Amino acid sequence: MRNIGIIGGTGPQGKGLAHRFARAGHPVAIGSRSAERSAQTAQELNTRLGGGTSVRGTTNAGAAGSCDIAVLAVPFQGFAEVLRNLEADLADKIVICCVNPLGFDRQGAHGLYVPEGSAAEQAAAALGGSAVAAAFHNVSAVRLRDEPGPLDDTDILVAGDDPDAKSAAMELSAAVTGRTGIDAGALRNARVLEQLTAVLISVNKNYRVSAGIALSGLAADVRDRAGAA
Ligand SMILES: NC(=O)c1ccc[n+]([C@@H]2O[C@H](COP(=O)([O-])OP(=O)(O)OC[C@H]3O[C@@H](n4cnc5c(N)ncnc54)[C@H](OP(=O)(O)O)[C@@H]3O)[C@@H](O)[C@H]2O)c1
Repeated sequence: MRNIGIIGGTGPQGKGLAHRFARAGHPVAIGSRSAERSAQTAQELNTRLGGGTSVRGTTNAGAAGSCDIAVLAVPFQGFAEVLRNLEADLADKIVICCVNPLGFDRQGAHGLYVPEGSAAEQAAAALGGSAVAAAFHNVSAVRLRDEPGPLDDTDILVAGDDPDAKSAAMELSAAVTGRTGIDAGALRNARVLEQLTAVLISVNKNYRVSAGIALSGLAADVRDRAGAA
């Protein structure tokens, strides 16, 4: 079991992931700018989990400092400041980034320009002492919240340059989908995963769904092989 800290864990995405991770048996610390808000979220999740104390509320710094694996689940707006504030607390930790740098205008959702290439690469550049992977960009908070079972029609695509961070994210994906995440290559591919979410948001709006990603051509034995790598 891994101690997981969710930075921005009071939002729909952080809360949804926290619920799935805790249900899989991982102790989870919900981080927030407000310890009161995170305590409320932790209480709500512990109640949903049928009682117990596997989820606790704390500050973002508290969650970062106490975890083995941190999940960055804050909006892109304000992301640079979050990274600056948590650099010391996240040193030597595995950091999984699911931040999508997106803008919205009359034509819908669109990817924003990020000088480093992606939010995940920005995190890697800012958090020199952390091992960063990118995952969970394309799974909707609505499905995380509303569907009782594993999202087993969904693939979690994981990008990363650090093997430990990448395999940790691939393993944690199983708490969400029931199967290991897919190795989607180097961290620079996070820019594709992040911007792909603009496409999904457009699909969701047009069809009134909460679409995710599923790759074809990956039989179960092939998935197992990748997970063991
Ligand atoms: N929602 C989805 O379906 C979805 C799917 C895939 C990926 N994502 C990505 O996951 C991230 C979180 O999504 P979300 O929908 O949960 O976002 P959100 O509700 O807008 O924000 C999550 C939490 O971040 C904190 N926060 C808000 N503004 C902040 C700021 N300027 N600085 C620091 N913390 C701030 C808030 O917590 P406190 O006020 O308690 O500190 C908030 O509850 C985003 O980057 C999004 O692109 C979302």
